[in-house]
Amino acid sequence: MGSVGSRLRQRRIARLWGWPRWAALPLRLSLIVGLWVAMLAVALVLEPPRAVEVLARAGHVVALAVALGAILVVDWHGLLWLAGRRSVTDVLRVSAATGPLVWIGLAGLCATGPLLVPDLGATPARVKMLLVLGAAVNGALLPLTTAHLRDVPVETVIRQLPRAVRRRMVQATVVSQLCWWGAVAVGLWTTASRHY
Ligand code: HEM
Repeated sequence: MGSVGSRLRQRRIARLWGWPRWAALPLRLSLIVGLWVAMLAVALVLEPPRAVEVLARAGHVVALAVALGAILVVDWHGLLWLAGRRSVTDVLRVSAATGPLVWIGLAGLCATGPLLVPDLGATPARVKMLLVLGAAVNGALLPLTTAHLRDVPVETVIRQLPRAVRRRMVQATVVSQLCWWGAVAVGLWTTASRHY
């Protein structure tokens, strides 16, 4: 009885978790845009003491290391797959393992960024905020692409994938690299122009 009850409960939780599938993506995207707008609103009003700003800069760099480190690992595995030295399963496993680190790193950057008193009236800061949004939206769309890889045979090479899937994978990788390295470049430029 107990096990039937717990199985039913588990099934109900699973249904709730996956329900409604069609709404998962719009919900995720609305959440990302909502959090992004909230972060900008907080950044506009915050005036933290100097000590908090210094700590936040350290946190910003740590979060950056976590996120970029994870992104480099997953992209490196993607390259090894292209070279025929990793299977599709390896790539999926690595991307599933590193995905949370990328989101944790991005959350850390967005939590510490407003404490660094960004000048949101300046073009570089505005560009950077759009790049941050681009990186988050691209990450949220990624499961749509990787879902196509789950059913292909382990030894599949990229040339054997449907053209649309290949195009989406390349697009996702290029957008991710542009957004992340663009945000890093603007961040470094801002620091250099403020302090040196
Ligand atoms: C993809 C996300 C982000 C990346 C990759 C990124 C990257 C960077 C980097 C590399 C620096 C230079 C750090 C240093 O040299 O000490 C920096 C500084 C900075 N970041 Fe970010 N950042 C991100 C998100 C944000 C967000 C969301 C905000 C604000 C809401 C923000 C605000 C700032 C500010 C104001 C500085 C300059 C701090 C200073 O030197 O006074 N960043 N960022």
